[in-house]
Amino acid sequence: MGEPNGVHEKGMTFTQHMAEMQQEFPEASGEFTALMQEIMLSAKIISREVRKAGLADALGLTGHVNVQGEAVQYLDEFANQTIIRNVHHGGHLCALSSEENEDLIEIPDRYPTGKYTLTIDPLDGSSNIDANVSIGTIWSIHRRRTPEGPGQIEDVLQPGRDQVAAGYVIYGSSTILVYTSGAGVHGFTLDPSIGEFLLSHPNLRTPEIGLIYSTNEGHSASWHPRDQQAVEIWKSGRGPGGKPYSARYIGSLVADFHRNLLYGGVFLYPPTVSHREGKLRLLSEAAPLAMVCEAAGGLASTGRGRILDVIPTSLHQRVPLYIGSRREVELIERLYREIPD
Ligand code: AHG
Ligand code: MN
Ligand code: MN
Repeated sequence: MGEPNGVHEKGMTFTQHMAEMQQEFPEASGEFTALMQEIMLSAKIISREVRKAGLADALGLTGHVNVQGEAVQYLDEFANQTIIRNVHHGGHLCALSSEENEDLIEIPDRYPTGKYTLTIDPLDGSSNIDANVSIGTIWSIHRRRTPEGPGQIEDVLQPGRDQVAAGYVIYGSSTILVYTSGAGVHGFTLDPSIGEFLLSHPNLRTPEIGLIYSTNEGHSASWHPRDQQAVEIWKSGRGPGGKPYSARYIGSLVADFHRNLLYGGVFLYPPTVSHREGKLRLLSEAAPLAMVCEAAGGLASTGRGRILDVIPTSLHQRVPLYIGSRREVELIERLYREIPD
């Protein structure tokens, strides 16, 4: 099947790209495209707020603690509210879930419900905000499972392999939106002078081998020996790359992941003493990035199997995460098989 003309032409707007992609699927109702537009609009608004945060007294803590015991930043709350407000009235969703809300977020009665669910990490890496380090937004879309009416928890508790689309936005040196709906991974850069996301990275593919490892090595004393060994292999030049790897760790998952996607590399957040199941959240962080990673030719694993195959049992479930270039993640999976618990 050929690609529609121009669908991957650099410089085209996100809106043009979505319209052309939709033509590929004559049965498409346009609901998905409309939902993506709402996410894109939210990203522009959050980007604007992030850009002026230092001026507008919008930095710092709100004094609240979220459902996971983490300090909530002003921008965490702003991003969360912005996305919810922009998506809940369009009639495309039956429910949402967010890292910042303990329970399922229902669509208010006054609005129609639709066939999708959305899960978000509204602001990822938010502990970095005050230091002007890159932060991001991650989202994941599923088709609902219940037939109609208000969405239920089972509409959101679905494995990553059933995602309809997933992606992220980075508020970095530029604002970049990356998404996949299965047909390739595409990156768009926000041109602030016209307020449009323009296609800058069509059909992203990640290198099979990466010479970067990204992890909070400060926790390595409490890692399992197999995680310690993996890092030793990469440092000593015995990894798939055949020479010592570079360490790169920003502490914003989206930014660490995006760099490795472009350059090749592996990100790992293994179980530690304080996070025995791993720190990162399956539904709002691991699964969406796993879909993007696999669609770009990489792998994402718990060490024991694909992230995309994990069946969620709760909204804020955490998982060990190993994600990035295929050969590096395969090395981890081999160490999991060889070194017992
Ligand atoms: P969030 O800001 O959404 O709570 O996520 C923070 C996450 C993730 O972005 C990052 O990879 C990780 O926390 C960093 O954890 P450490 O500070 O323990 O390294
Ligand atoms: Mn996060
Ligand atoms: Mn967050």
